[in-house]
Amino acid sequence: MSLYEELHEQLQTGHEIIDQQHQKIARAAAKLYEHLWTKSDPAEILKLLEETKALTIINFNYEEELMTEHKFGMSLAHKTQHDRYLDQIDTKIKHVRDGKIDDLDDFSKIIKNWVFNHIIGMDRKLISFLKTK
Ligand SMILES: [Fe+2]
Ligand SMILES: [Fe+2]
Repeated sequence: MSLYEELHEQLQTGHEIIDQQHQKIARAAAKLYEHLWTKSDPAEILKLLEETKALTIINFNYEEELMTEHKFGMSLAHKTQHDRYLDQIDTKIKHVRDGKIDDLDDFSKIIKNWVFNHIIGMDRKLISFLKTK
């Protein structure tokens, strides 16, 4: 089972727009992940990283607007995770630009955390809350 299929099964939250956004991120991240492990060129890694980051920002902004609009109690913790992921992505982008694709294990941990653990942990809580509104 590819990373994308694995993510696909477990990413469903029941919120149509957020699920579509997550699916796009999962697909982009799976491409990036595969590319990293087949030792491809830094320019391509950078392109895939930027693509995944752009899709991630769309999703983060959308969720943050919903949290503000509906006064979600856990919004600070949730936004803190978003900010941390964006910082990590930016650090990796900087490393690749500097010619350092040093720690692939670390890279794949970030991708899994960012795409997978956050959606299952944090996003599901947000969506459960939104269903009560
Ligand atoms: Fe999300
Ligand atoms: Fe989120």
